[in-house]
Amino acid sequence: MSNVDEYYTEILRFVKQAGSIVREKIYQHKDVLTKSCDVDFVTEWDQKVEKLLIDGISSRYPDHRFIGEESTSSGQKIELTNSPTWIIDPIDGTMNFVHGLPYTCISIALLINKITEIGIVYNPILEQLFTARKGQGAFLNGAPIHVSSEKELRQALVMLEVGTSRDPEKLKIVLQNITLLTSHVHGIRSFGAAALNMCMVALGGVDASFEFGIHAWDVAAGDLIVREAGGVSIDPAGGPFDVMSRRTLCASSMELAQQLSKILIQYYPERD
Ligand code: IPD
Ligand code: CA
Repeated sequence: MSNVDEYYTEILRFVKQAGSIVREKIYQHKDVLTKSCDVDFVTEWDQKVEKLLIDGISSRYPDHRFIGEESTSSGQKIELTNSPTWIIDPIDGTMNFVHGLPYTCISIALLINKITEIGIVYNPILEQLFTARKGQGAFLNGAPIHVSSEKELRQALVMLEVGTSRDPEKLKIVLQNITLLTSHVHGIRSFGAAALNMCMVALGGVDASFEFGIHAWDVAAGDLIVREAGGVSIDPAGGPFDVMSRRTLCASSMELAQQLSKILIQYYPERD
């Protein structure tokens, strides 16, 4: 058994435990705190799930490092080094979790030498476990998944998100892109959890997904899952994907990704 095999087995155990918390709490009342703005939420359960994952991994692998959404918002510095680093969103789709909309997940990726080795996205409400290991394909509940064969933007179903920023400049660009895309694609969808959106591309249910302003924890796992499902993950302007850039675009094919990147109005948030 390689080290990564062992890490994978261990993390699945902790992710399942984290999933039980999310499943138990989603339909209960939660006290909600806000972070960067009035609609950027955190609950005690986001914090508890992140702690469960970090404590579990640290107890087994004390030299592993972490980039976690809630540790970062409590002031911890984001630093991606060559050490094994777990990038964690304890609850992606916190707004959905708060409202009891069962489209929410735990998203976790392991990077070693800045290369993603493991990606896991788990929706414990709908019992959808998306997994990928570098070079070994992508899976939903253990069954292989594959992106759609779509190459044409005008026939594509595209996911995007308004996001949690209410910065007027950012919102203006989001709305311009929605207007622009409406006349170029089959349809637009927005479900409220970036990691699951990327998994929908991996599953072939939608053909592309993009967002400006997401963070490393929203996209690190989804990036590997899409690529292992045969899709592509790039910067929305057409260059290589950069997990710290806060910009993401993934699609079923490079042809489709490039067509989409060419028509999008670009937005460059401050990097993670
Ligand atoms: C958010 C969700 C949402 C996306 C935001 C993210 P969170 O993550 O993924 O779909 O539009 O940009 O911040 O706050 O629920 O973990
Ligand atoms: Ca989150």
